[in-house]
Amino acid sequence: MDKLVIEGGKPLSGTIVIQGAKNAALPILAASMLVEGVVTIEHVPKLLDIDVMLNILRELGCRAEHVDETVQLDTTSLHSSHIPEALMRQMRSSIFLMGPLLARFGEVTIYQPGGCAIGERKIDLHLSGLQELGAQIVEEDSRITCYAKRLKGAEIHLDLPSVGATENIMMAAVLAEGLTTISNAAREPEIQDLQNFLNSMGAKIIGAGTDTITIEGVEKLTPCRYQVIPDRIVTGTIMVAAAATRGQVTLLNTCPSHLTSLIHVLRRTGVQIAVDGDIIKVGAAVRPKAVDRIVTSPYPAFPTDMQSQIMVLLALADGVSIMKETIFEGRFKHVDELSRMGADIRVDLSSAYIRGVSRLYGATVEATDLRAGAALVIAGLAAQGKTVVEQVHHIDRGYDRIESMLGRLGARITRYSPVESNPIVP
Ligand code: UD1
Repeated sequence: MDKLVIEGGKPLSGTIVIQGAKNAALPILAASMLVEGVVTIEHVPKLLDIDVMLNILRELGCRAEHVDETVQLDTTSLHSSHIPEALMRQMRSSIFLMGPLLARFGEVTIYQPGGCAIGERKIDLHLSGLQELGAQIVEEDSRITCYAKRLKGAEIHLDLPSVGATENIMMAAVLAEGLTTISNAAREPEIQDLQNFLNSMGAKIIGAGTDTITIEGVEKLTPCRYQVIPDRIVTGTIMVAAAATRGQVTLLNTCPSHLTSLIHVLRRTGVQIAVDGDIIKVGAAVRPKAVDRIVTSPYPAFPTDMQSQIMVLLALADGVSIMKETIFEGRFKHVDELSRMGADIRVDLSSAYIRGVSRLYGATVEATDLRAGAALVIAGLAAQGKTVVEQVHHIDRGYDRIESMLGRLGARITRYSPVESNPIVP
């Protein structure tokens, strides 16, 4: 497994262009299976999760190319709606294929994606949503098969606003007969992006971004060319890294309106943020202030995907901050690693109590999941001395060569691969 070696203590400085959003690209790639023909999707980042999704699509008979940041999919010879268990287990987001493949083939077989490092992550809302659209579901051990000759529009209420369930139901309902409404839908920007993509292919969806989405089923879609929105979590990660290293960074190709809650919290810590169109400038010169209480909740509240990164800044702040995690029960694994670097954090059930220290120190730490890994990289950049971050493959799921991205901002960060045991020059 690759590792990152970071010489900390250098403020980040410079300009960076933000990659397309992984969490928008994944459902959009899946939704492309609803149409027959060639679909072109731009601003698709080069990430491990995207590679896995493209491999699954190839396995199903789709032709898929990813050149620079453009993906071209030819779905004409898509022949299977059976996702092999081994591929399904590589990435939870393969669940997104359930709705589109069911709508296109009238049948789909998937396997339980299982739990993951950040929590149990059930799929009951995905399944009950499809059932309400008329699908018959047969579960045998971990294998799930759904059948429906043609899905029928329905009024679906989600018990909780699940991002993935909202997207899966939207994708399935696009080709259903009649009208579907999803109430208590998730409101994340990635859902709006999926709506815009599907509508570009001729779907009739309104309401994404609010808690009620209405989908009028159509007979057929036509292929399109589409550009994915900027990644708000990568944007946020760089903003926090700039603040934690007391640097000055300009971020291009951002969508500041998707980051309102993060910008609000960062300003409360004393970080300077200037927004001009799709440009965000972040600067911090002094020690951050603690924030009494942050609660992660569905969009537009503070995102769970930024919880671990902002915790690094709070670990360095003046005073005590409280972070409450309400989305995923197992999402404090970075705390033990940050403690090895000198952070003073106590976890009690779903809350973390963070007593700021004036300095973190380099250590060997392990990335336990994607965002926890990003947090450890930020901690390494801000810390005094050398930090080694192990299990970098978790970080590669969501950040396109994080070491070259940060290297361009002056960070002293090098990737080592065990095969060559030589540094990989970005
Ligand atoms: C998506 C994001 C992920 C982010 C999360 C929350 C993608 C690819 N991933 O994940 O980065 O952290 O939203 O913002 O977009 N739940 C159920 N039953 C279900 C589905 C979900 O109980 O059928 C629960 C989950 O266990 C979790 C909560 O709902 O506690 C939120 O999950 P959900 O919004 O579905 O997250 P994902 O779509 O998996």
